[in-house]
Amino acid sequence: METLIVYYSKTGNTEKIAKLLAKELKAELFRIEEKKAGGLISAYFFGALGKKESEIKQLPDLSKYALICIGTPIWYWGPAPTINTFIKQGTFEGKKIVLFTTYMNVVGNGIEKIKTALKEKGAEIIAEEKFRFRFGSEERKVKIFGKIINEKIREKK
Ligand SMILES: Cc1cc2nc3c(=O)[nH]c(=O)nc-3n(C[C@H](O)[C@H](O)[C@H](O)COP(=O)(O)O)c2cc1C
Repeated sequence: METLIVYYSKTGNTEKIAKLLAKELKAELFRIEEKKAGGLISAYFFGALGKKESEIKQLPDLSKYALICIGTPIWYWGPAPTINTFIKQGTFEGKKIVLFTTYMNVVGNGIEKIKTALKEKGAEIIAEEKFRFRFGSEERKVKIFGKIINEKIREKK
């Protein structure tokens, strides 16, 4: 199954998971970039003000992929604003989706909103995982996650 991993990463954690998962799934990678990338302080500042979207430089072409993995850091108990924008602008009809997040302490339930949005756009979420960045146990966890996804794909073929 042609697979694309679309992710946003400000400080490298989500990118680390995306790259490990790409190996497990033999997937291609697409890094979402902000049109106007600010620093971490502005990310915290605008997040605290409730900013939920951020313009992105380029949308990935999803047309040839049956499986899209979406990776986001948790910002203020939800997805990063760029990922909200990607989901709002992207076409997901008939796609299988895997969601993964990276976080430090508390995930919150902001991810539920993008799950609902994706389903409303005709996608099917087949797996999701959260990676807490504190204990350096990501590699093993990504391997297990990759196995789960590969099994789900086989079941659905
Ligand atoms: C603006 C901002 C808000 C954040 N909010 C949360 C949060 O609500 N909960 C949490 O556990 N971590 C939070 N974090 C930490 C990040 O989720 C965590 O460091 C993540 O792994 C970063 O991913 P990245 O390195 O791919 O950018 C926040 C980080 C930033 C910059």
